[in-house]
Order: sequence, then C-alpha cells, then structure tokens
Amino acid sequence: MTSKAAPEAATPGIVRIYRLLDPRPDAFLGDVLAGLARPQKAVPPKYFYDDRGSALFEQICELDEYYPTRTELAIMRECMDDLARLLGPDTELVEFGSGASIKSRILIERMRPSLYVPVDIAEGALRTAADALAERFPWLNVSGVVADFAQPLVLPEFVALPVRRRVVYFPGSTVGNFTPEEALSFLRRVHDLLGPGGVLVIGVDTKKSKAVLDAAYDDARGVTAEFNLNLLRRINRELGGDFQLSRFRHKAFYDEAAGRVEMHLESTHAQFARVGGRRFDFAPGETIHTEISCKYAIEEFRAMGEAARFHTQAVYTDPDRLFAVYAMMAV
Ligand code: AVI
Repeated sequence: MTSKAAPEAATPGIVRIYRLLDPRPDAFLGDVLAGLARPQKAVPPKYFYDDRGSALFEQICELDEYYPTRTELAIMRECMDDLARLLGPDTELVEFGSGASIKSRILIERMRPSLYVPVDIAEGALRTAADALAERFPWLNVSGVVADFAQPLVLPEFVALPVRRRVVYFPGSTVGNFTPEEALSFLRRVHDLLGPGGVLVIGVDTKKSKAVLDAAYDDARGVTAEFNLNLLRRINRELGGDFQLSRFRHKAFYDEAAGRVEMHLESTHAQFARVGGRRFDFAPGETIHTEISCKYAIEEFRAMGEAARFHTQAVYTDPDRLFAVYAMMAV
C-alpha cells in the first residue's frame, strides 16, 4: 500500500485577539471636541474607520483613480522572492493597519511566518480578517491586536514559537497620514519594537502630478466623498451630534509645495452643529480638516529612515515609480 502525505488539517489556525485600546472611555468625544474648538477645525483621521468607514475604504482601494493599492500589490508580487530571501525563515510578522489583510496574504503565503500579528484600531475588520486568514492558512498562528499604532505600543508576550526575526509590515502608505514629524517619531518607535536586525517593510506613495493625485482623492463615483462624510455620520451616531450631512461637501486637493494631499469637509452654508452639548459655528466655505496624505520622493523617505536608525536594504518600485516598497533594517 502506498502512503500519501497527510492533507493539511482542515481546521482553521489559532486566532487570539488582544485589546489594547485607549483606556479613556470618551477618547472619541474628547478628540472631536478639542479638534472642533481649534481655529482650523480638525478631526483625527483614525476616526474614519468604523465598520462602514472600513468598508468604504476597501471600496476606495478598488477605484480606477486610486492607483496605490493595485500598484503596491503588483510590486509585492514582483519583489516577493527577493524579499523572502532577505527576511529569511521563522519570522514574527507584525502588520500595522492590517484592515482586510489583503497585501499581507502575499507575504504570509510565501514566508510562512511562525506568527502573524495584525494590529488595527478597527476591531470588526481585524476580527473578520484574522478569521479569514486562519481559514485560508490552517497552519498559521494569528494573534490580532486591537490598538492605535500611532501611539506607543508594547506588544503582549506571545506563545513561545520559533522566531528568529521580527518583521514589521506597514503597507498602504498609511505613514503618509502622519505629518513628517509624526512619521519620524513613529519610525523611531518601530525601531524600538524591532530591535537591531529586525526589518521594516513599508509601502510609501511617491510624489507625482497634481492631476493624478487630485483624482485619486476625489473620485468620479464619490466613494471618497462618502468616506469623508461618514466621519460626520459617525459623530452623529456615536456622540449624539446633529451635523446635517447635506450641508457639507468633500474637498480634497494636492498641495504640491507641501507634497501632501489634504482632505476637508467644507460647510456649504452659515450653520452650526452641536456635539456633546457644545455648539460649533461654521461660516460658508469653512472646513474641518480630516486628513493629510504626505507623498515622499524615494531619497526623502530613505533619509527619514536613516534619521530613525534604519538602513535601507532594498527599494522596490513599479515602472512608473508611482509607489515604493522599502525594506529597512534596524541598526
Ligand atoms: C489609509 N491611507 C493611506 C489612505 C490614503 O491614501 O492616505 C486613506 C485615504 N483617504 C482617502 N483615500 C484614501
């Protein structure tokens, strides 16, 4: 009788979820009230990602105008062999802002990490993605962490597994949603989390023409507009606000001198809205600043990495240099 190799277990891999969220129960309210009281009203972009916001962001990633997602995926497929060689076996793969974990599938499939640690503020999206991955890769250990990775983060002690190297994966150019100063502090914290010899694999959008960037953040179907306005919807629902959504419009533009896209919600009328018992007045044309998306030339980002004690081992890009993926070792 011939013996066959045992098929891989049909049961899903082990999934654990840890919650390391802001202990302030009313952090959202506090941030919104403080942001709306500023001369330039603002709400931090992390609040985009309730369940609806996360789903809208997934739709943005599929838009014709939004080139970053498909370009980064193509780069990842192209560079995967080289990257896997560079990273080596037995890794602990930590992904920041994992969302639906689409891009990390390529890495997981090729590297077969000992442990995958998705970190995301959106608990619903994190749980769904972790379960889907465990289903698809039954050999995979997943320890998801619900946390705001923009804040200092100490990861829980995970089960003893053979790990030779920690790898932090931060795709999607989410680093662009920080100011350059915040991005540098973030890279320094990632350096501490990795320790010498750990590697950061990071996807970063490049500078390019205003026409391409304006369209990418103001698509013809209005999905990005809906994503932006959903912030007011969330404030109304979760904080008892009374914003009239029809009296605000999405505004997004690339500021070439600053090298960044800005997103705002513009008041179309003189009006006021109440949140948490406070009244906020709006002049016609006044805006709430909701997001920046900084773009970096390759040399600029390499220099930022060096300032955070990273040595750039490889830069992978597409033929049009629309997007870049960096492998940076902590030294
Ligand atoms: C998540 N982040 C990298 C996106 C970006 O491109 O800055 C968020 C986004 N905002 C509007 N479209 C996409």
